[in-house]
Amino acid sequence: MDTVLSGIRSTGNLHLGNYFGALRNFIRMQDENRCFFFIADIHSLTTHPNPKYLHENVKNVLVDYLAAGIDPERSVIYIQSDVPETIELYLYLNMHAYLGELAKTTSFKEKARKQPENVNAGLLTYPTLMAADILIHNADKVPVGKDQEQHLEMTRKFARRFNNFYGVEYFKEPVAYNFGEELIKIPGLDGSGKMGKSEGNAIYLADSPKEIEKKVKRALTDSGPTEPNSVKPDYIENLFTIMRAVSTPDVVQHYENKWNSCEIRYGDMKKQLAGDIIKVTSPIRERILEIEKDDAYLRKVTKEGAEKARESASKTITAVRKIVGFKKF
Ligand code: TYM
Repeated sequence: MDTVLSGIRSTGNLHLGNYFGALRNFIRMQDENRCFFFIADIHSLTTHPNPKYLHENVKNVLVDYLAAGIDPERSVIYIQSDVPETIELYLYLNMHAYLGELAKTTSFKEKARKQPENVNAGLLTYPTLMAADILIHNADKVPVGKDQEQHLEMTRKFARRFNNFYGVEYFKEPVAYNFGEELIKIPGLDGSGKMGKSEGNAIYLADSPKEIEKKVKRALTDSGPTEPNSVKPDYIENLFTIMRAVSTPDVVQHYENKWNSCEIRYGDMKKQLAGDIIKVTSPIRERILEIEKDDAYLRKVTKEGAEKARESASKTITAVRKIVGFKKF
């Protein structure tokens, strides 16, 4: 049985990118694997969120996770800050993580550009905390979108380096995973790169059908192709990419044909796309509206999740402490 670990930062509600990149396929894996799903609230501190909203954001992700189909009876669902063993492992891994390699990470360079007034050490060592999240349970597989591939590569490097330095075969080298399929990137609707919380271009699982229709309607299009079989500009290809995730293959093929014969009507395509997104999100949204009211349930889930996650994490920390050379008198 493989150990699977999935993490999402607590910086807002879950959007279609999170769902298709890191969640949907793994909901089906809960019986065949030892699954951990966690909320990365410590990671969110790198951007200095207002303490007033931190808890609310954790709650939103927790509720979305549960509504999307994570079953706390079969999987462990927990909050990162409830498992201090992760932070201890992060510290040990940082002793073997080097400034040069951390500063070269794409996500660090991006964040440093976005928040030049706040290039803190937590941002620099973001990949070691992420490696600690994964290695604390010695995970085999990590469901992620394409944007996290480099972090997984670094996790393998840190695991290998630890093993080599201490002459042990303790940590496994985890792989980025999407159910045997390629890692995916769900684009935004604004013609730019990926769909993201901080990009302001996301469709959330909690969005109402009306909001979804409005967002899809606003997506960038043009006056349509004039040459048969022409290459699609990025902003049109993006609509097709989202369609491939939410619609059936025959629907996608229909619009591909329309594109190729220069008969595409974006109004129709958007209507179809919005309808198919709503089909995916509306059952989740209904559950969100129920679960978010049930504080007793959320308290129980997080308490039990923390206990199970700590049980697994403390085994790792006990072994790592021994490997590092700490001994009791
Ligand atoms: P985060 O919170 O940005 O995103 C959570 C997960 O959703 C995926 N994702 C996407 N996939 C496809 N298309 C998109 N547009 C898209 N946007 C987001 C991400 O790839 C990710 O899998 N560093 C992580 C959180 C984290 C983590 C971990 C993940 C911390 N520790 C350990 C896995 C294992 C992050 O910021 O993801």
